[in-house]
Amino acid sequence: MENHEQSCKVKFYSGEDIPLELHKVRVVQKLYLNPIEQRLKAIRKAGFNTFLLSTTDVFLDMLTDSGTNAMSDNQVSSMLRADDAYAGSQSFVRMENAIREVFGKKYILPVHQGRAAENIISQAFIKKGDVIPMNYHFTTTKAHMELNGGTIFEIYKDDALNIKSSNPFKGNIDIDKLKALIQKYGAAKIPFIRLEASTNLIGGQPFSIQNMREVRKVADEHGILVLMDASLIGENAYFINQREDEFKKKTIKEILHTMFDLVDFAYFSSRKVSSTRGGAICTNREDLFLKMRDLVTLYEGFLTYGGMSVREIEAMAVGLYETTDETVISQSPSFIAYLVNELDKRGIPVVTPAGALGCHVDCMGFLPHVPQTEYPAGALAAALYLISGARGMERGTISSVRDEHGNDILADVELLRLAFPRRVFTLSQTQFVLDRLTWLYKNRHLVGGLKFVDEPAVLRFFVGRLDSVNDWPEKLMAQFKADFGDSL
Ligand code: F0G
Repeated sequence: MENHEQSCKVKFYSGEDIPLELHKVRVVQKLYLNPIEQRLKAIRKAGFNTFLLSTTDVFLDMLTDSGTNAMSDNQVSSMLRADDAYAGSQSFVRMENAIREVFGKKYILPVHQGRAAENIISQAFIKKGDVIPMNYHFTTTKAHMELNGGTIFEIYKDDALNIKSSNPFKGNIDIDKLKALIQKYGAAKIPFIRLEASTNLIGGQPFSIQNMREVRKVADEHGILVLMDASLIGENAYFINQREDEFKKKTIKEILHTMFDLVDFAYFSSRKVSSTRGGAICTNREDLFLKMRDLVTLYEGFLTYGGMSVREIEAMAVGLYETTDETVISQSPSFIAYLVNELDKRGIPVVTPAGALGCHVDCMGFLPHVPQTEYPAGALAAALYLISGARGMERGTISSVRDEHGNDILADVELLRLAFPRRVFTLSQTQFVLDRLTWLYKNRHLVGGLKFVDEPAVLRFFVGRLDSVNDWPEKLMAQFKADFGDSL
């Protein structure tokens, strides 16, 4: 499976810096690029929340890479040989072998998806009053940890939230802040330090192995466990190969082993790692395994399926091996880098350097006239959908929560995430998004804010409904029609 020589970065005679698809498309799905009037109706009906759009109203689904990466021929064919059994399935054995070989961890607990792992880890390790240092939270992670009485502390470096940056490892933990936190609360209150690979909410930004080693050293000095959220592990390993001198000549597999050797336990959402459903927790420590084991049978299912179907388990095993193939793992970052660099060249504010998962547009820079209390990232997501049919995801204050007085806790950054699920979009589709974003930037003064009309108490971004503060969507549509005529 290993193929270190190939990556989507090839040189063009013309000198153009464009990514190349190193796969062929053999199964296709029809897409709908509906007229703008229909898109306006759809986004209003969806309460200006792109989660609530139907895929028949969506042209390019850039909401997430979660469960939407393209499967390989080998993954699809593996699903046919799945061994249906409640207990002792050979499909699980193949998955276990894959995790042992690719990540180097011996004990494996299967779960139905990433947040299920977070539930189990939080219940097993966090008690009321505990504090959990991490590079940055993920929405579901924070919710589970707080539910179990923990408080999270994000101890990223001061420049990690700078939109424009050349820092190759914005996902690093600030070691001085980590030491200060341990000093303040004491190691006994810290069940583990959490490192999130390709830190999702700050723009898919990786950490370095150098930083992992420093975290490990401090953790060992105080007897604290280190946990890795490995949901975007392949991309983080790819960035280490690209950006960290010591690892330029190492294979992705060697880098993965080095990373996993530095943590006590790890979990991942297989929806991201290998494009199917499911996930797992893995460790080499029997005591940690035993601490979590019975929660898996309670919440997920028996230890050889953990809420997944055997077909998903088979595809996950093959997908894990494919994670070590640079051709596979470089595909999404190469397309993201193309879009990010083109937007940056046009002066459109976007998180740099390009990271994993998606292109992250800086909405406070894009819509400086929309206050954070009117949700610029949600507004831009709705506006881009309206003028292109491409749906991204709000990653800003709508994805945050309210304080005890009912005021929004304003997000550190307001991002519109345009996800690039692996091997799903072509270059011309990417160029279409670039083109429409360029038009939208020119007409950004026409985009206004949003307000909640139906707001759930927990994880409100998923199903909450909003409305535009005025008739800006109609005005934006009128300008679109003036410029694009009858074009979809
Ligand atoms: N951790 C990280 C870093 C994630 O990105 C996700 C999911 C999870 C945990 C939870 O995994 O969805 O399988 O329960 N991220 C998705 C996204 C939802 O769109 O970024 P899950």
